[in-house]
Amino acid sequence: MAFEIVATGRALPKNRITNDELSATVDTNDEWIRSHTGIGSRYIAGEDVATSDLAALAAKRALAALAKKTGEPENSIAESIDVIIVSTSSGDYVGGVPPTSCVVQNKIGAKNAAAFDMAVCCTGFIYGLEIASGLLSTGSRKRILLICAELLSRITDWSDRGTCVLFGDGAAAVIIEKTQAPLTGDGKRGILRCLLGADGGGAESLIVRRGGSKNPYRKNEVVDKPPHIEMDGRAVYNFAVKTITDVISKLLEQEGVGISDLAVIIPHQANVRIVEAARKRLGAPEGVFYTNMEEYANTSAASIPIALDELNEAGRLKKGDLIMVVGFGGGLTFGGALIVW
Ligand code: UT7
Repeated sequence: MAFEIVATGRALPKNRITNDELSATVDTNDEWIRSHTGIGSRYIAGEDVATSDLAALAAKRALAALAKKTGEPENSIAESIDVIIVSTSSGDYVGGVPPTSCVVQNKIGAKNAAAFDMAVCCTGFIYGLEIASGLLSTGSRKRILLICAELLSRITDWSDRGTCVLFGDGAAAVIIEKTQAPLTGDGKRGILRCLLGADGGGAESLIVRRGGSKNPYRKNEVVDKPPHIEMDGRAVYNFAVKTITDVISKLLEQEGVGISDLAVIIPHQANVRIVEAARKRLGAPEGVFYTNMEEYANTSAASIPIALDELNEAGRLKKGDLIMVVGFGGGLTFGGALIVW
């Protein structure tokens, strides 16, 4: 029994904003953003778009991809989904009441699916893979829809140039199926292993302070800013370089393979300097990491599956390829997974 990603899809808002365009309203410039992060543009949702809209669009594209592959009608695939997991830290409603996953379930007609949200910030896709594998390993479940969707623009402080230039909106979905392929030995396929971790001591390094039970808005309070992300960039940077390096080394060691056995590593797309520093520490060849933050900036939980979908769509993932995904972010959380495509 294996747990295989059988289809992918992504959705980005229409509105693409370049660094130069952003510089018209923020005290920044293209040279600083590119040289410090590798980011060149980001997509920002219009006011009429909610997280569930992007999530449902990404899900529909994954459903359509599977329909094309199998010949099964799209609506019957939607009805065959056992569980919908939406990973988001910027869902439709405060505190997830109702869960964004339930809104998505209704939008895509997955009427037989259970649905829940999870909030693991930028590591959401990795946690989602492990949770989906666990859910598929028991009972009669066969198909899980994992969607990572973020409208970070709604919790961004647009007057803080240290954070607002970094983030973008986006969503991506994968369908994970229980198959008869072996999970170990010759011909092994699917999600081979996941490594998850957290360091709550770093919780304040990346935080939305207001609006929750710790710091609720009070009656008659004059609010100067809506809830927004605050970040200790240097602390997160150092954490990221260390954890990417550690997670990759541990997963390779556990699987008994080397970095040269990997077709590609897809890291969380936060900063190209983080990826390059980790690559140098690992002694990895240039080009083994796939990056696309130049186009999309940091879309938090959605960044890894957006990249996965791009590679899949371009036909750059071949059957049998060993690939690694590795993430880090608020929590602080971290994790990685090894997958045979
Ligand atoms: O998803 C996970 C979440 N986040 C991350 O992974 C982010 C991790 N951290 C980082 O990527 C980097 O720390 C940043 C990109 C956020 C910052 O880069 P840095 O090289 O650590 O810059 P810095 O914060 O030390 O700032 C250097 C200078 C400062 O000016 P002074 O004090 O040296 O005069 C900042 O005020 O750059 C200035 N600065 C800017 N200048 C133009 C900060 N942001 C900007 C900006 N445009 N957007």
